[in-house]
Amino acid sequence: MRSLQGKAVLVTGGTSGIGEACTEHLARLGADVVAMSIQPSAGKDLALRLTAEGLSCLFHHGDVRAEPDVEAGIDLVVDHFGRLDAVVSNAGVMRTQKITELAVDDFHAVIDVNLLGPALVAKHAIPIMERQGKGVICFTTSVAAEIGFPGHGIYCASKAGLVALMRCLTTDHSPQGIRFVAVSPGTIDTPMLAASCAGWDKPKEEIYADVARKIPVRRMGKPIDVAKAVAFLINDDAGFINGSVIHLEGGTLALPPW
Ligand SMILES: NC(=O)c1ccc[n+]([C@@H]2O[C@H](COP(=O)([O-])OP(=O)(O)OC[C@H]3O[C@@H](n4cnc5c(N)ncnc54)[C@H](O)[C@@H]3O)[C@@H](O)[C@H]2O)c1
Repeated sequence: MRSLQGKAVLVTGGTSGIGEACTEHLARLGADVVAMSIQPSAGKDLALRLTAEGLSCLFHHGDVRAEPDVEAGIDLVVDHFGRLDAVVSNAGVMRTQKITELAVDDFHAVIDVNLLGPALVAKHAIPIMERQGKGVICFTTSVAAEIGFPGHGIYCASKAGLVALMRCLTTDHSPQGIRFVAVSPGTIDTPMLAASCAGWDKPKEEIYADVARKIPVRRMGKPIDVAKAVAFLINDDAGFINGSVIHLEGGTLALPPW
């Protein structure tokens, strides 16, 4: 089923992990996708691979912290496809440090990508969607917004801030036809997660097996698990889902605190 046929979508962080899965899955469902990221080589390869299959995908090399890059990414979607139906605001970074070891640069490294970036994306997408009378912005938050992750205070704060931003946008702009939603992944097997295993006293495979044993469904998430939820949320079938966070964590948040 090509349920997103003709929908024009921007995916930030769309060339790795969860974002790459979104780019590919949405394109397979018929969407015209622009994947934006700071990975020019991976981005060009992804766009080439998908277009060689007859799918519709362009790459935009841009940094979500830079307002002109964000504007250019949105302009590329509108210039090429004539409209902007949805944005998957997914680009994100993670840093590990206790607050007692915090360097101000690390604070900005996380907050600027995870919070300023989505704010800039929303700033420039919303006026276009308001003119259309329709649009959806889907943010990638994290279960880290709701539970404490040791050594990840700023990351957790950035994701909780993103949920708060999403809810405020709903109150300000949904009367003009725009829906705002968020996906909240648990532990998903991506390059970001693999990088976070560096420095542990066990190989990644052992860490992953330990993590999977603790998740009620007894497996870690895959990027496609998130992409399938995103495809539903940006579809018109989800037209009454607004201001909501959809958790994709295999039941982790349902566990008792002992
Ligand atoms: N992997 C997980 O377990 C997990 C869990 C919860 C939430 N998340 C969130 O999911 C999102 C995707 O993470 P992932 O695990 O796929 O990571 P990833 O590192 O595989 O992908 C991150 C993407 O963001 C892009 N990016 C980073 N900085 C950018 C910038 N300044 N401008 C534009 N693009 C930029 C990268 O180029 C890459 O394409 C992030 O927001 C992350 O916080 C991940």
